[in-house]
Amino acid sequence: MSIPGGLVNILPETSQVSPEDHLVIGGCDLVQLAREYGTPLYLFDEGTLRRRCREFVGEFTSRYANTQVLYASKAYSNPALVKLFQEEGLGLDVVSAGELMIARAAGFPLERAYFHGNNKTPQELELALSHGIGRIVVDSFYELDLLEGIAASQGKTVQILLRLSPGIDPHTHAKTTTGIIDSKFGFPIATGQAEEAVWTAQKLPHLDLVGLHCHLGSPIFEVEPYAQALEVLLEFVYYVETMYAFQLKELSPGGGFAIQYVPEIPPPRVSEYAEVITSNIKNWLGAREAPRLLIEPGRSIVGRAGVALYTVGASKEVPGIRKFVSLDGGMGDNIRPVIYGSRYVAVVANRVSAPEEEKVTLAGKYCESGDLLIENITLPRLRAGDLVAIPASGAYCLSMASNYNASLRPPIVMLKEGKARVIRRRETFEDLMRCDVW
Ligand SMILES: Cc1ncc(COP(=O)(O)O)c(C=O)c1O
Repeated sequence: MSIPGGLVNILPETSQVSPEDHLVIGGCDLVQLAREYGTPLYLFDEGTLRRRCREFVGEFTSRYANTQVLYASKAYSNPALVKLFQEEGLGLDVVSAGELMIARAAGFPLERAYFHGNNKTPQELELALSHGIGRIVVDSFYELDLLEGIAASQGKTVQILLRLSPGIDPHTHAKTTTGIIDSKFGFPIATGQAEEAVWTAQKLPHLDLVGLHCHLGSPIFEVEPYAQALEVLLEFVYYVETMYAFQLKELSPGGGFAIQYVPEIPPPRVSEYAEVITSNIKNWLGAREAPRLLIEPGRSIVGRAGVALYTVGASKEVPGIRKFVSLDGGMGDNIRPVIYGSRYVAVVANRVSAPEEEKVTLAGKYCESGDLLIENITLPRLRAGDLVAIPASGAYCLSMASNYNASLRPPIVMLKEGKARVIRRRETFEDLMRCDVW
């Protein structure tokens, strides 16, 4: 038996169907995993994770040797994942003291970590500096001053990049568009604020301005926005090189590389993103020394490797309108459909090849009418107890998970060659009340 055609590029790469018609990932049968760990359950396929890391490193360094791939922790981070990324030679992009401390606890070399964010607190910057963070990606004039003061007080010189806003629309969801002028992130180039930031940073004695950064948004299903952003950024570099003797040692066009969620919307290949980014930089270089290229994939490293597994419970048919089939998870573990209208597909993991028979809406169990994971999907007729797997769930699901309705966040199991390893246990009722003071 084989994986249904439309799902081949959406499910993890090691996915198979067992003779019992069960979905198998990383050599592990999902029906058995559900029995052992319960649902909702999140699975990561180690093979897919490692191959995505190697694909990014390979496609970029083969075209532009001086590239460092930084995994954007916000997509999801935990110590086991951080260790895996370290083994694969990746650096990290962190956006909070929390992400930094997870990396540190996992023994990650923090000189390979870049700290982003539009409002890093004084405490976060102090912590980052005292733990020897690699770079701070400065986002505002407030932060330039703040960081200068903290660096001076610690007797350090800090290497920084400036986050710039190139004013390019990457044609993704408005809430995840970040490189346009009307954005809370970065110094806009068009308004002159980016130039002022370069000038200011160059004068601050404890800051060493080594590079420029932008991030357009996520997910970006086209390659042209990267070319457009680089054109604006590199034009700006010409200008500030001449005006302020600025030297570009590091350059980052950010992350945002898309993955496939539904069969009808395929993303560009990693090689296509790599080609457009590296060729634009190489064409611009001339006699300059090649700056280090930083790229920050998050979703495209962990997204496809992750699968959410739920059990079917109640169903409700509203005659002539629709049929709701409720799962035992929902917006508490995956809020993306609610906040971004994100689309997913589903597979019945205990009978993968069953014929599609009816159109249903897969609802979550949370007390919100909007808690719908997938609307109007055609699936086999679902019965209570069936297992529904939602692929492409590795990014921005667990990292945005909450305890809404005092629910327990799900466990995570890493799968490899027939072995399952728990990398996060299911929360308990004690966990729910751990911070409460009686
Ligand atoms: C600065 C920065 N870099 C990288 C990323 C990662 O984006 P993605 O997970 O789509 O690759 C983000 C996501 O918001 C970001 O803000």
